[in-house]
Amino acid sequence: MEHIAELVRARKSVRTYDGTPLRDDDHARLSAYLEHIETPFDIPMEFRLLDAKEHGLSSPVVVGAELYAAGKIKRDPLAEVAFGFAFEKFVLYAMSLGVGTVWIAGTMDRPAFERAMELTGDEFLPAVTPLGYPAKKRSIRDAAMRRAIKADSRAPFESLFFEGDFGTPLTAERAGEYREALELVRLAPSAVNKQPWRIVKQGDAFHFYKKASLPANPKGDVQKLDIGIALAHFMLALEEAGVAGNVTAADPGIAVEKDTEYIVSWTRK
Ligand SMILES: Cc1cc2nc3c(=O)[nH]c(=O)nc-3n(C[C@H](O)[C@H](O)[C@H](O)COP(=O)(O)O)c2cc1C
Repeated sequence: MEHIAELVRARKSVRTYDGTPLRDDDHARLSAYLEHIETPFDIPMEFRLLDAKEHGLSSPVVVGAELYAAGKIKRDPLAEVAFGFAFEKFVLYAMSLGVGTVWIAGTMDRPAFERAMELTGDEFLPAVTPLGYPAKKRSIRDAAMRRAIKADSRAPFESLFFEGDFGTPLTAERAGEYREALELVRLAPSAVNKQPWRIVKQGDAFHFYKKASLPANPKGDVQKLDIGIALAHFMLALEEAGVAGNVTAADPGIAVEKDTEYIVSWTRK
């Protein structure tokens, strides 16, 4: 893989594909990658590459893709976080091969994907992505969507990250050796580009919170997927810099607003 920072900075959601099938070597690499994706969570999950025609799969926002990757996971309080973490690693890996993706949790023919994944009672399907080569030009709908949700902009660093408690913004300068990892969190994709991640730094511990801005959905909490994605960017950046840490779910008891929920913490080893 290329450097995580380059992949994260170059990634954009691709909803418009050029219609050519995935090359055999790319298909084989992606398929092998999906066999085993490491996460800091011990929750069973499974991914499959699915032929759109064979399984009747579609998304109203996607044009020109013949193949999808989909996943399912056992229900668990941290299921979405674990899935977000794993699937984002896959998305970045696909990007390193020049294969386009877009996280899709909402705009899809969900029953068709759920059938293709053969869900059992205690499993759910958090998200899918088409796989293919980006078209030269975005469809009108794709471009209009990006404008509507301001897909190219992100909130300022110090509105997302804090030091000690939520009353003290963490500036990029003060983040020191963690600055780049946090910057890569800031650049992460999120559902409707809502950027629900909030992080409080306490020394070498980073507490991840979700500031809810989308209605809860019985098919899974998409904003917890966003937290898993953020954690993946954060940890991959630090791992590349040789910094290891442990992930735990142990609420440090920092005062939060009503819409903000503690999710997980990363602590340096
Ligand atoms: C968990 C998650 C779910 C998403 N679901 C959808 C979706 O259902 N349909 C869609 O068109 N885009 C979806 N997106 C893509 C976001 O709209 C996109 O990531 C965001 O606008 C930022 O744009 P970028 O990915 O190009 O940086 C989703 C993204 C995430 C992270």
